[in-house]
Amino acid sequence: MNSLPDLAAVEAMDETDPLRAFRSRFTLPSDVIYLDGNSLGAASQEVFAEVRQAAMEEWGNGLIRSWNSAGWFHLPVELGDRIGRLIGAAEGQTVVTDSTSINIYKTLHAALAMRPGRNVIVAEGDSFPTDLYMAEGVVSTRPDLTLRLEGRDADTVEELIDDSVAVVLVNHVNYKSGELRDMAALTKRIQAAGALVIWDLCHSAGALPVDLDGAGADFAVGCTYKYLNGGPGAPAFIYAAKRHHASITQPLSGWWSHARPFAFERSFDGEAGIRRFLCGTQPILSLRALRGALSIWEEVDMNALRQKSIALTELFIRLVEAKCGQYGVELETTRDSEKRGSQVSFKHGNGYEVMQALIERGVIGDFRAPSTLRFGFTPLYVGYRDVWQAATVLEEILSSGSWKEPRFAVRSAVT
Ligand SMILES: Cc1ncc(COP(=O)(O)O)c(C=O)c1O
Repeated sequence: MNSLPDLAAVEAMDETDPLRAFRSRFTLPSDVIYLDGNSLGAASQEVFAEVRQAAMEEWGNGLIRSWNSAGWFHLPVELGDRIGRLIGAAEGQTVVTDSTSINIYKTLHAALAMRPGRNVIVAEGDSFPTDLYMAEGVVSTRPDLTLRLEGRDADTVEELIDDSVAVVLVNHVNYKSGELRDMAALTKRIQAAGALVIWDLCHSAGALPVDLDGAGADFAVGCTYKYLNGGPGAPAFIYAAKRHHASITQPLSGWWSHARPFAFERSFDGEAGIRRFLCGTQPILSLRALRGALSIWEEVDMNALRQKSIALTELFIRLVEAKCGQYGVELETTRDSEKRGSQVSFKHGNGYEVMQALIERGVIGDFRAPSTLRFGFTPLYVGYRDVWQAATVLEEILSSGSWKEPRFAVRSAVT
């Protein structure tokens, strides 16, 4: 194994980083090392410009006219197509709307309706909880439905699939461990059994190359406030493969999913395309913030992004294990970079306190109960020196025991 790089070597990596110039587009405070872009991405100047224009000009002066003159009505599909380019979806298959949780509800219902006679939903026991809460909510709407969980009912998702399974809801990258699934292989396996798949892309959209069309995926959902940098509470997206559009129904059939919303017809006639997944009036200012954020992505080479992401996570693992291994931190993420998203998680018995001490020192990651210190590496604005610095501060906190100060044990609502 190569020897541990020193600070000069790490700085040299920044010098030759092809993505380095992107950092200046973001408005990060100079005294912060931001390793939480997997939870809330950073703001770019493009976002502020879009929001200012949408609020002051289009709303302020254009008023109601802007639904037409500023293209507000078409934003969900316009932005869906832009995200589609990052997740391997050809045009007309992705729409931005609602939250990931709500979109899980809609896609689960759509998939179940497409597989009459099948009554099982499969998911992962260690999924992000909302996926399971929503699946349980769907199960509660029909007495014949059941939920099978990986980790509870069998060891792997694959073992749970049989001809009673209608749909599998699965994460591309696990929110806690950072484990990356093989999308093409699992999609094939699920479809060979006659079931449909919904991929949760919350931790892979904008974090690595994704190829939904190439994998032949059925549905996907994901959020835009993490790696895509759309802003706090930014609306989520839904992908549905074109071949399914004629069969899609979803229960949240509000007027925005109607084929002719401004005809105000008494009976519902769902839009034929991807707009069928909309429900009600869309949050235009949030959509415009997202539009600003997505404009940067037009310039990003996703393969270069992935290479840098792997280099950043690799470096962090090596530095933390070398500097902090003796203080009770244990790697939770896989060492296999091909099976890892753009995050690194370590377990520590006092993970909450350690993370609060890190945040006070300007190194911002997050804590996931019961013991995970989670660090996200967003290649557009995190550099190699940041990684070095973060590992060094973590070492200082652990070796001095400063995390034991009582103020770090005070729990906040959001961790
Ligand atoms: C994997 C995953 N799915 C779903 C969600 C929840 O999304 P929302 O709050 O937009 O419904 C999150 C949020 O962090 C997540 O990490």
